Amino acid sequence: MRPSILALSLVLTALAAPSCGKKDQREAAVPVPAAEAPAPVAEPASPAPGVDPFTYANYREVRVTDLALDVDVLFNEKAIDGTAILSFERLDDGATDLVLDANDLDIKSVEAGDGAAWAPAKFTLGPDDEDLGSKLSIELPEGATKVRIAYRTSPGAEGLQWLTPEQTAGKRHPFMYSQNQAINARSMAPVQDTPAVRMTYSATVRTPKDLLAVMSAEQDAGPRDGEYHFTMPQAVPAYLLAIAVGDIDFRPVSDTIGVYAEPEIVEAAAREFEDTPKMETATSALYGPYRWGRYDLLVLPPSFPFGGMENPRLSFMTPTIIAGDKSLVGTVAHELAHSWSGNLVTNATWSDAWLNEGVTSYVENRVMEDVFGKDRAVMEQALALRDLRAEIAALDRPELSRLQLPSDLDHPDDAFSDVAYLKGEFFLHFLEQRYGRAAFDSFLRSWFDSHAFKAATTDDFRQFLMRELAAKNPDAATQAEIDEWIDGEGIPQTLVAPISAAFDKVEGEQAEWISGTQPATTIDANGWTTQEWLHFIGALPDDIGIARMSDLDRAFDLTHSANAEIAFAWYMKAVKEKYEPAMPAIEAFLGRVGRGKFLYPLYEELSKDGDLAFAERTFEKSRALYHPIAQRRVSELLQAPN
Ligand code: BES
Ligand code: ZN
Repeated sequence: MRPSILALSLVLTALAAPSCGKKDQREAAVPVPAAEAPAPVAEPASPAPGVDPFTYANYREVRVTDLALDVDVLFNEKAIDGTAILSFERLDDGATDLVLDANDLDIKSVEAGDGAAWAPAKFTLGPDDEDLGSKLSIELPEGATKVRIAYRTSPGAEGLQWLTPEQTAGKRHPFMYSQNQAINARSMAPVQDTPAVRMTYSATVRTPKDLLAVMSAEQDAGPRDGEYHFTMPQAVPAYLLAIAVGDIDFRPVSDTIGVYAEPEIVEAAAREFEDTPKMETATSALYGPYRWGRYDLLVLPPSFPFGGMENPRLSFMTPTIIAGDKSLVGTVAHELAHSWSGNLVTNATWSDAWLNEGVTSYVENRVMEDVFGKDRAVMEQALALRDLRAEIAALDRPELSRLQLPSDLDHPDDAFSDVAYLKGEFFLHFLEQRYGRAAFDSFLRSWFDSHAFKAATTDDFRQFLMRELAAKNPDAATQAEIDEWIDGEGIPQTLVAPISAAFDKVEGEQAEWISGTQPATTIDANGWTTQEWLHFIGALPDDIGIARMSDLDRAFDLTHSANAEIAFAWYMKAVKEKYEPAMPAIEAFLGRVGRGKFLYPLYEELSKDGDLAFAERTFEKSRALYHPIAQRRVSELLQAPN
């Protein structure tokens, strides 16, 4: 991506392709000789549905089945260095090349063979596309079943973050971790980086002696000695390949569930997540056995750009959900739920992201209902609906409000809006309401069972739904009602808005305060949960004004809330209202936390509302903390404020 390693790729580039837009580069693996078929003048055709446009891999001709890594983690160089052996199968006898994705990788040598004998193989590394990286084509000698690639990652690899000791809780050791969803696995290793391809993997990882390495695999049971072995016998897509190295400790929560984190926070994390076994029991009871062996959580330093990431056997989590009262553990239910929706049944392309995230958000909500009760689950639905409405209202392309997203997205990350998560979730609530909980539960379970360890498209889901549920209950929903959910834009007519009695009370208190002259101390917020506070802040009218903001702050000190979600909601409101007293706390928050869910909206709102200089200053001061993904997103936001 960055120019530094381009020199090598230019030398190795055999095809003198004119520099072309990224879409032109996403083509079939075998280049068409220039003399044949003149390039059409028209726009490049949209990729066919079900085909992943964000990979160079020729995965429908030659498919990787296993990855074996043998690497050193070099903190001084900020690099992973070693070899990757990829086993593959030929689906098309005529295929001459294996095509992989690579991003910012220094490819030192490529050999082909059968695992016993190796011979140098010819390869080309194509031009570097800013989003997609480079196409690595390897000529396959007859009979070869494996390739061995010696490579090194770049210090700027988009999927890896290298933290200095100061950026950790312990302040004594460096820390590194990967974030490979959606298309960053290719910056960690040469792979077929598409959710349509699954591989088993194994790894030998060498680190500084006093650090521990963990992966999204069976962990090394041996001592902390700087050399670790991992095996992942279940085939997973490349985006689920994950590694972290640091001063990492472990606390069991049950026999099969535990928490990894820096020693400074591991106790608090294990306490916060002590209900995870109940969540696993609830999910398995609904949707069939947990199929991955252990389930552990790794709590990362606060720069982790997501709430959580469903790396198999080892979800990666932000520390910002450790609130002390379990009020934000919905994210644990969410990442655990991906063990069914996403990791077991995987979206075939990123345009089908709702099959991962929407189904997961629904399962999350069901699990929250089982473990924490109906009221909590309904409150979370109501908060979700407010977010969904706001997101849809803000979209600049209405097609982006479809569950089945267009296949010409600019970047896979664009698929992960609240549409995929929450419209997806409400679609399944709709189906549950129409077909009844019992029938819908067994339908969803059979969806997971029948598509386990496979990739699925939105059309696969539609067909399965029509055959297994709709045809058997023809009166429950019309075809048009179902199609409106899957293909339609905006929020379907048939959405039933959740009703929360607790939220009605919150609104009552708010209305009384706003219409009256009593100070905010008279609001009866005794015993309000985090969700009630989030509703209260979210429901505050526009332009409520500085006086009301200070009144609330005097009564409840929201500016200094220790709950990251409450603080974030309040800061968004503070920026909109230009409530200056919150600015120092906002600056401190942005300098402490790297979670995109908080950063992007805050920076966007700051730059919209005339505080661009403040935003730029804060970003300058804080950017070293942020993950490369977040650095890129925030700097894009600040360059194009709207
Ligand atoms: N798989 C996502 C995180 C992700 C999405 C990474 C897109 C890269 C690209 C994860 O499961 C997720 O949804 N995390 C949410 C948690 C939430 C909705 C409870 C997050 O990070 O906030
Ligand atoms: Zn998710």
